[in-house]
Amino acid sequence: MPLEPVMKDDLGRVIDYLRISVTDKCNLRCRYCMPQEGVRRLSHEAVLTLEEIARVCRVMASLGIRKVRVTGGEPLVRKNIVKLSADIRELPGIEEIAMTTNGVCLAPLAEELRRAGLDRVNISLDTLRPERYARITGRDALKEVLCGLEAALSAGMAVRVNCVPCRELNAKDLEEVAELAESRPVDVRFIELMPIGCGARFQGISSGEILERLTARFGEAQELPSGRGDGPAQYYRFPGLLGRIGVISPISHKFCDRCNRVRLTAEGRLKLCLQYDHGVDLRELLREPEVSDERIRQRIAEAVRQKPGEHHFEGPGEDADGRKMYQIGG
Ligand code: 5AD
Ligand code: SF4
Repeated sequence: MPLEPVMKDDLGRVIDYLRISVTDKCNLRCRYCMPQEGVRRLSHEAVLTLEEIARVCRVMASLGIRKVRVTGGEPLVRKNIVKLSADIRELPGIEEIAMTTNGVCLAPLAEELRRAGLDRVNISLDTLRPERYARITGRDALKEVLCGLEAALSAGMAVRVNCVPCRELNAKDLEEVAELAESRPVDVRFIELMPIGCGARFQGISSGEILERLTARFGEAQELPSGRGDGPAQYYRFPGLLGRIGVISPISHKFCDRCNRVRLTAEGRLKLCLQYDHGVDLRELLREPEVSDERIRQRIAEAVRQKPGEHHFEGPGEDADGRKMYQIGG
């Protein structure tokens, strides 16, 4: 009997959002994400080919995935990423494709990506101070990122900025980052630092504290009802800002009960929760000779049903995944 094009887990959550890490490589070394001493790279063969990724997307679209986000590492360092985006966007059932990027290579690609059908980009940007940017990311590339942001807007994509407030790194710069929304239709979102990999070495700043600081700077905010596509962010309208301000609070306000996502890692593991290793190795299955789409479908549907109920970042979990953020894709 054909499966219905809706995927639900055992807790009744509808899973319609797939995040794909297309590479574990990154052209930056953000201190809370990548170890400064360098990292072991996946071998070429270990990483899914673009054809394999597109196949997983096709199968998952037939199972009810409606939105795809391409992440990394840094997705724009993967060759032919524009082609992959176009291929995914064309799949029946896919309603939106987005990308999370550090923006360094975005400016020259923005037009092409838009033409390929990319609907939105999330640009990671923790400070507008060039020296601090270089200290956090290991690269003096702030100018390129800001050019990328303008290019994405000019190309007609929806743009969000993601900022991870961190006591030791960018605590003084947060109001300035919010000001990006002053004259641009850009949503600026502050994401609580999660104790994943190198993130555990730093102290995050809670969404509550961020909102207090922004209120002191811009005035009382209006809390906005959550709209479709807002994901786990709670949005606010501040006086004088054209774009919205969002906070994502995985630590202070868990949103696991509304989670609608699963993740495909660069090496082809379908991960069911950011924290845990529960999941299924699709690479092995994809590389079995003459494996049918139907078999892949069954395997995925079966795995998704067992998605964990919630993360336990507040304490050590049983199956906590040893992988770092650049290997998972955030
Ligand atoms: N906690 C929260 N966000 C993180 N990112 C990387 N590591 C962490 C962490 N430990 C973010 C980056 C980027 C996105 C890919 O993930 O800042 O916005
Ligand atoms: Fe690269 Fe993003 Fe990690 Fe920074 S946070 S090192 S940009 S993957």
